[in-house]
Formats: sequence, C-alpha cells, structure tokens
Amino acid sequence: METTLLSGKVFAAQLKEEAKRKVEMLQEKYGVTPGLAVIIVGEDPASKVYVANKEKGCHETGIYSEVIRMPEDTDKETLLAEIDRLNHDAKIHGILVQLPLPKQIRSAEAEILEAISPLKDVDGFHPINVGNLSIGKDALVPCTPHGCIRMLEMAGIKVAGKHAVIIGRSNIVGKPMAQLLLSRNATVTVCHSRTENLADITRQADILVAAVGRPYFVTADMVKQGAVVIDVGINRLESKKLVGDVDFESVAPIAGAITPVPGGVGLLTIAMLMQNTVFAAELQIK
Ligand code: GUN
Repeated sequence: METTLLSGKVFAAQLKEEAKRKVEMLQEKYGVTPGLAVIIVGEDPASKVYVANKEKGCHETGIYSEVIRMPEDTDKETLLAEIDRLNHDAKIHGILVQLPLPKQIRSAEAEILEAISPLKDVDGFHPINVGNLSIGKDALVPCTPHGCIRMLEMAGIKVAGKHAVIIGRSNIVGKPMAQLLLSRNATVTVCHSRTENLADITRQADILVAAVGRPYFVTADMVKQGAVVIDVGINRLESKKLVGDVDFESVAPIAGAITPVPGGVGLLTIAMLMQNTVFAAELQIK
C-alpha cells in the first residue's frame, strides 16, 4: 500500500489561509485587527529562529505583530511587569513568552506563564486553559497538538474508535494531545521514559504520536503496518542536520501516513499560533 506523506506545508497553508479570512472578517465586522506579542528573553539561537517564523506568520495572515526582545539577564519582576503591560494593551490579543527562559528565571516559569491573562494565553499553558481543555470547555489549546488534530481532520483521517499511542507526557505536547484525541473518541495510551515493553504498546497504535525529543527513537519494529505516524520531534544533530523522533527511512514504508521532519508538524505549530491569536481576539470581542 502507498504511504501518504502528510506535508506540513500544505496543511499549514490551509490553516493560515483560514486565519487570514477570519482576520479580514474581524476587521470588517468589528474594526479589530488581532494582535500578537512575542516576548523573547536572551539570545537562544533556536528561539530566535522560531520567533522570526512567528513574525512571518503574522505578516502572512494580516495579524498585528510585536516582538519584545529582553536582555539575557532580565529579572522576574521586569518580565512580569512587561506581561502586565501587554495584558492591558488593547492592540494585543495574544501573548507568548518564548521558552526556554534563561537560567536565572527558569525556576519561575510557572509563575510567569500564569501571569498571562488566560484570554490572551495563545500557548494554552495557563492552568485555566489546561483545565478547560480537560473538561471539554472552550479553551486556548497548545499550538503543536492542536495543529496535529487539525491536520488529521483536514487529511480525512478518522480518530474516533482508533487506538492512539502517544510517546511523551509533556505539558506542551503529550498531555494536551491525549486530551484532544480523547475528546474525539480515540482510545488513548500515553507512554513515557518509564514505560515497560514500549514497542509492544506502540505496535498496537493506529495513530502513533512521537514527542520524545530523541533523534530516530521510533524504529520500524515499533510501528504497525498502515499506522498513521505523527513526528513532533525537532532534533538538531551534531552535523547540523534537522531530524525528528522517527527514523523516517525505515518507518515510512510501513506507515499508512507519516509527517516528515523538517516540513511537518513544525509548520503546523506556527499556523496554529495564528489561528489561536484570531480565536483569542474573538474571545476578547465577546
Ligand atoms: N519553545 C518551544 N516550543 C514552544 C512553544 O510551543 N511555546 C513557547 N512559548 N515556547 C516554545
């Protein structure tokens, strides 16, 4: 059977097009242009690339964009004051603090993320949004898992009744992915670093989501024939090559459908941030 390549480029373009139309609608109907503020503290090179891509996404969709660059040695109080200012800025509907934070404020990460107004929390990391997602109420949902779900919908891949196995239990991907799949009536198993007999479990997956952060972690022997394989990993090898958590070469021939890295889930994450910013603007208009 042919393997379907799930191109992030194609689905991200659709999501951005949809966001763009909604931006135009909000401008016409309410005179409101959705606005996104991204705060980057310090000089992490990967973060700089992500932030540049977010700016580009705003530009493409007509979202107003502000990037706030703060020095590496910024203290917690200064960052909290900036978040407070943005919480009260009517031009700004979404606030994102780029992670990871520098060492001196990393231990305050939870406090910093909770300082963002839940209505402007386009990362979906605030406990209010985490809670609303888990009880099935409207919520801002973390961009990466939300993008994966929208991709499955657009690709016409049925989720209800399927066994979805997620490798990874992070707050950013694994746990919200589990909630989203569960709410769409999948049977969900969450595996992690302490899971015993991992391959026995992953081989049962109709939908396998890899969010481990280890290059080539998922190998062909871990995948059932015809499974849908979603690779959330973005790993930089010493050679500078970008690879996912899935050994694409060996897994692709077995999978029914698979996302590549690069050119897969990463593009969906940016596109979903644009959608979340539009949704946050709608929440604030109401
Ligand atoms: N750094 C890597 N991924 C993310 C993300 O989804 N949100 C934020 N804020 N920072 C990140």
